[in-house]
Amino acid sequence: MILFGHAAFQYLNAACELGLFDLLAEKGPLTGEEIRTALDLEERACDILLLGCAALRLIHRDGPVCRLSAEIGELMDRGEWTHIVNTVAFEQHIVYEGQADFTESLRRNTNVGLRRIPGEGKDLYPRLAQTPRLEEVFYRYMRSWSQLANRHLVRHLDLSRSRTLLDCGGGDAVNAIALATANPQLRVTVLEIPSSVPVAEESIRQAGLEDRITVRGLDLFADPFPTGFDCVLFAHQLVIWTPEENTALLRKAHDALAPGGRVAVFNSMSDDSGDGPLIAALDSVYFAALPAEGGMIYPWSQHEASLRTAGFTGLRRIELPTWTPHGILIGTKAI
Ligand SMILES: C[S@@+](CC[C@H](N)C(=O)[O-])C[C@H]1O[C@@H](n2cnc3c(N)ncnc32)[C@H](O)[C@@H]1O
Repeated sequence: MILFGHAAFQYLNAACELGLFDLLAEKGPLTGEEIRTALDLEERACDILLLGCAALRLIHRDGPVCRLSAEIGELMDRGEWTHIVNTVAFEQHIVYEGQADFTESLRRNTNVGLRRIPGEGKDLYPRLAQTPRLEEVFYRYMRSWSQLANRHLVRHLDLSRSRTLLDCGGGDAVNAIALATANPQLRVTVLEIPSSVPVAEESIRQAGLEDRITVRGLDLFADPFPTGFDCVLFAHQLVIWTPEENTALLRKAHDALAPGGRVAVFNSMSDDSGDGPLIAALDSVYFAALPAEGGMIYPWSQHEASLRTAGFTGLRRIELPTWTPHGILIGTKAI
């Protein structure tokens, strides 16, 4: 499976893009011939697609009849299949080519794969807005990846007595919206690079939360943070940068907090033992090869060291019961 992992992924991607799973979900079990007609494929092409999807157990074949696998059916029933499809599109259109530079990225200890993403900019994010199709694929995925786990963030990050939250690198505001919806007294400021501000503003408008969530365009590293917040959130942010950069961002968060305020780090974490979980290891290939010079799915203890160096105390680890390796670290600024 490792040797041909790339081919397995291409079957999954092709089946998503051609609409095989949606077709079987909508129409129920179909023969190969019915599928071929509905997907408008030549016989050989459809034979290849069905061979691969059946061998990988994405579909089941019973004689001439094909049906959706129980696992995909369950993901659809739970409303999570869209998140998988959005993740597949991200892997195919943004991650895949850049990962070919993984070895060279390790040799040079920098993100050589960024050369595969068109546009100007020293990291991935300013380049996205220069290719609108990629920007759409990225933020659709980012929203899904957050939504796979952010109900746990809403549950574990008690904001019932907080009035203000600063969401650093908040993307399309998916987490700001979830937290503001769950905490009606909360006001959120989202910090984003200027080119992504319209993406965040549009989803805040769609959520009808313009009165409680505002977006400020700035560079997290170069510009000062606004101050006086009860909570600062880094969601899927401290996996992008080097440990030194993370510590610098956490210091700025510490300065931005009111005494007694809390910082929350919400992203995938790897085990301190350095041997898993598997998804954390696999996801680290992307962070090594593509978005920025340094980054990985760091072990919990690495984030804890950065938090302590930045001045936070009372650190709390919250491991989440999800197949994604998400976790939350909460630290407090002394009163
Ligand atoms: C991996 S995404 C996470 C988005 C969001 N927090 C979420 O969890 O869905 C990282 C975000 O950080 C933003 N970002 C990257 N570098 C930044 C910088 N220097 N200043 C401000 N935002 C930045 C990107 O534009 C992107 O939206």
